[in-house]
Amino acid sequence: MNIILLGPPGAGKGTQAQRLQTDRGMVQLSTGDMLRAAVAAGTPVGLQAKAVMDAGQLVSDDIIVALISDRLDEPDTRAGVIFDGFPRTTAQADALDAMLATKGLTLDHVVELSVDEDALVDRITGRFSCAKCGAGYHDRFKPPVAPGVCDSCGSTEFKRRPDDNEETVRKRMTEYREKTAPISNYYREKGLLRQIDGMADIDVVYSEIVSILNGKS
Ligand code: AP5
Repeated sequence: MNIILLGPPGAGKGTQAQRLQTDRGMVQLSTGDMLRAAVAAGTPVGLQAKAVMDAGQLVSDDIIVALISDRLDEPDTRAGVIFDGFPRTTAQADALDAMLATKGLTLDHVVELSVDEDALVDRITGRFSCAKCGAGYHDRFKPPVAPGVCDSCGSTEFKRRPDDNEETVRKRMTEYREKTAPISNYYREKGLLRQIDGMADIDVVYSEIVSILNGKS
């Protein structure tokens, strides 16, 4: 099963994708994580993407589509993928349709997390992750069970994203409204879109997604 999690910055796409990966053996394909890895490795893509990401703008469609297409050729993705942060423009959505057809794959569900924009700045500025395994946390909404220790791997090293400041978050939201929000209609017209309340508790959001994937709602 291949699905898209759709929603603005801080909607909870990464949080839910990590959990689906752990519980259902699906593979999280986060274009944001791929780009941050390229930046950290200093690859040509990373060098091109860094300034764009720091400014809260979208990286070019060509770069993103090539990243996803290459990743889908790796055998682990046959277990099913969760597209997290992709597609983000209608050109990317068109390219995804074409590449899925070429690779003999299908898209089963598009789940949109509907959220109140005012709450998102709070969510994003309080976000941090484990520097070793990448598990995601929040200062208030999802702190580690033992303070300062990662629940997943026991590491005591954490990090915050450079684009998680209020000014950049607001630019990312503008980009979302202008370039990504129209994608909802794209998938509604294909009969694939399901919208759920992303403002609910993390566990409640997760069970709603699972119900959709299990065909129970
Ligand atoms: P990317 O990394 O994709 O960032 P984003 O879409 O802005 O999404 P976020 O990761 O900020 O939010 P999320 O929905 O995953 O929220 P999370 O689960 O962490 O992209 C970064 C940049 O890369 C872009 O700006 C762009 O430059 C570039 N890029 C990436 N993909 C691209 C593409 N396809 N095309 C072009 N450019 C691209 O949750 C946030 C926090 O809230 C966490 O701390 C979490 O614990 C907490 N939380 C989650 N759910 C809840 C809940 N229900 N209640 C309370 N707290 C919650």
